[in-house]
Amino acid sequence: MRSHLLSIDSLSRAHVDHLMRVAARMEPIAQRRQVTRVLEGAVLGNLFFEASTRTRVSFNAAFCRLGGSVCDTTGFTFSSMAKGESLYDTSRVLSGYCDAIVMRHPDQGSVAEFAEATHVPVINGGDGPGEHPSQALLDFYTIDKEFTRLGKRLAGAHVLLTGDLKYGRTVHSLIKLLSLYDPMRFTLVSPPGLEMPSRVIDRVESLGHRVEQRESLAGDFSDVDVVYTTRIQRERFTEEMNENFGALSRDFSVDRSFIDDHCSDSTIVMHPLPRDSRPGANDLDVDLNGDPRLAIFRQTDNGIPVRMAIFATLLEVDDLVEKDLRPVRWFVPARLGVDDPAF
Ligand code: ASP
Ligand code: CP
Repeated sequence: MRSHLLSIDSLSRAHVDHLMRVAARMEPIAQRRQVTRVLEGAVLGNLFFEASTRTRVSFNAAFCRLGGSVCDTTGFTFSSMAKGESLYDTSRVLSGYCDAIVMRHPDQGSVAEFAEATHVPVINGGDGPGEHPSQALLDFYTIDKEFTRLGKRLAGAHVLLTGDLKYGRTVHSLIKLLSLYDPMRFTLVSPPGLEMPSRVIDRVESLGHRVEQRESLAGDFSDVDVVYTTRIQRERFTEEMNENFGALSRDFSVDRSFIDDHCSDSTIVMHPLPRDSRPGANDLDVDLNGDPRLAIFRQTDNGIPVRMAIFATLLEVDDLVEKDLRPVRWFVPARLGVDDPAF
C-alpha cells in the first residue's frame, strides 16, 4: 500500500497488521467517545457510479470523524461521464479538488485505470466483479476481534464462504487477504456457475491453504469458525443467465436452523451486506437477528475505524491521531441497535 488502495494484491501481511493496529487506535473516535481534527482542511471526493449504502456513507463518515470534509457524486446521470468524459480526465480534474478519492464503478479494472492518472490517493470502493479491498480489511478486523473475544486463533481456522463466489467481489478480496496469514481451511459453497474463479483458488492453494469446493450446504460444519455468506449478484448476470437462473434451492440457505443444526455455538456468521430481505430472495435469513453469533452489524460498525485507518495511513497522519484527541460533548447511546448483544 503506497499511494492507493486498489487491490489486496498490493498489501503484505505487514501492511495489514499496521492497518489493524491503526484501526484499533481509532476505536474511541469511531465509538464516539473522542474527537480528532487531524484531517481538518482536507477534502475527500466520494465517487459512486454503482449503488451503495455502507461503503459510501462509512467512507464519508470516517473522513468527517478525522476532521475532513466530503464532496460526493452518485450515479453516471449526474456526472459528466454521461457526456462521454473519460476516466483519465475525470481523475485529473478531481485531483485538483480533493486530497483523497474513493471510487466505485461497475467495470472491473476501472478504478485502477482512474488511479493511473493521479498522484492523489485513490481507494477502490468496488470495481464490478473485481475487488472490494476495504471491505476485506474490515472483515478481517471483525474476524480478528471476534476470535479474540472467543479465544480462537486464526492459524488453522475453518472459513466457509458461500453464495455468489463468482461475481461477489468481497469474497475475492477476503480470501486473498486471509491467505496472507498462516495456513487455514476454506470451504467454498456456491450455486452451479457461480463458483470462485480458479485463478483465486490456485493462488490461495499455492500459499499452503486447504480449499474444498462443495455444491450444497448439506453436511456437518460443526468445526467451521466463520460462515461468510454473500448475495447473488443478479445485476452482474447476462440476460441469458438471468433467464436460466431459477429460484435458489434451500440448499444454499443460511438461517437459524442451518446454524443450529450444522454449526456450533462459537461459529460467527458474517455477510458484507446488503442482504436481500425480500420474500423468496434466499439470502441470509432475518431469523438470526438477535443471535449473538450474527456478527453482521458489528462488521458494519467496524467499517468506521478501518476506513479511518486507511485514510490516516494513506494521508500519513496515523501517528498524529492520538496527540489530537478531545472528549465528545454530545449524547451517544450505550448500545446502537435494539438487538445488539451486551459485548
Ligand atoms: N455490498 C457489497 C459489494 O458492493 C456486496 C453486495 O453488494 O452484495 O460488493
Ligand atoms: N458492503 C458494501 O459494500 O455495502 P454497500 O454496497 O451498501 O456499499
